[in-house]
Amino acid sequence: MSTESKHNSIEIIQPDDMHVHFRDGDVLKDVVPHTAAQFAKCLVMPNLKSPVVNSELAIAYYERIKQAVPNNLKDKFEPFLTLYLTDKTNSDEVKKALDTQIIKGFKLYPAGATTLSENGVTNIKNCYAVIEQMQKYNAVLLVHGEVTDHHVDIFDREAKFIDDVLIPLRKDFPELKISFEHITTKQAADYVLSENSQYLGASITPQHLLYNRNHMLAGGIKPHYYCLPILKRSLHQQALLKAAISGSDRFYVGTDSAPHAKYLKENSCGCAGCYSALHAVELYTTAFEAENALDKLEGFMSIYGSKFYELPINTHKIKLIKQNWQVPNVLNFGNQELVPLAAGETMTWKLENSFL
Ligand code: NCD
Ligand code: ZN
Repeated sequence: MSTESKHNSIEIIQPDDMHVHFRDGDVLKDVVPHTAAQFAKCLVMPNLKSPVVNSELAIAYYERIKQAVPNNLKDKFEPFLTLYLTDKTNSDEVKKALDTQIIKGFKLYPAGATTLSENGVTNIKNCYAVIEQMQKYNAVLLVHGEVTDHHVDIFDREAKFIDDVLIPLRKDFPELKISFEHITTKQAADYVLSENSQYLGASITPQHLLYNRNHMLAGGIKPHYYCLPILKRSLHQQALLKAAISGSDRFYVGTDSAPHAKYLKENSCGCAGCYSALHAVELYTTAFEAENALDKLEGFMSIYGSKFYELPINTHKIKLIKQNWQVPNVLNFGNQELVPLAAGETMTWKLENSFL
């Protein structure tokens, strides 16, 4: 990484986003260009209304995503896919999926844990035959790490998942590659750091680095900060920041950018998900700058994710410039509106050649 004096600009290898939701259909043309303008590679989540449960569906989805990439970025942006793990996933699917070279892993959604997880896994033991194959062929298991028992407090669901599911699973499959997705707690950050294993990585979102639950709940309820796993108290935000800037290659970008139409978020039963694809690189840079850790930005943003997924590190560089600009209040989303994270706020970093 190179930084000019007083950080008026920064150049880093182009980042990758190892966890993004694009949805499907008409809205692809509104969201895919944002991610393609920011990132060189991305890993797309499979929780569509009709989930991406096999390789054929994934390849068809990949083609639709590619069509939504603007012409000038078609050679510069490569999406990779994940398959949606269910109680019924066939063990043969693992090798088939990896042979596509497009699919990198399987996403474990505990049934009922989050948006469109109804078809998820009811008991991890139902998937042991598939997981055995994943370990054998080096597929990554991406986990949404929250238990779903209704009596467990929503703020404790991630920590409990570590004890109840993750630790036993890693004991049974010690060489299974697991990406602990969008970690939100000190317990998760400490666990990943202390294990210090090549088989365990974790993605962190911009919202969990920049905010805590006060941003969402103090002074009025703010639905655009609501995502799952939910924002936690400040001490967890601090622990995540510490992990992200630690220089440990176990932590990497996963924006979890998850678009929902404005009216579905500003609703008496609002959807979970923050939209950050438009300005994710700027958001992360802001978080690292506040920690005086811009020298650690490139590893977290552009190297450790690819390293974990055993993908080539990008060669192209991007430049961020110190420049004020205002995040739009709304974006297009098919025939609906979409409110981005930090809508209306002033950002102090701008990606050169950004979408806006
Ligand atoms: C995601 C979505 O909307 O698809 N929502 C979210 O709050 N993060 C699902 C997920 O990753 O949990
Ligand atoms: Zn997600």
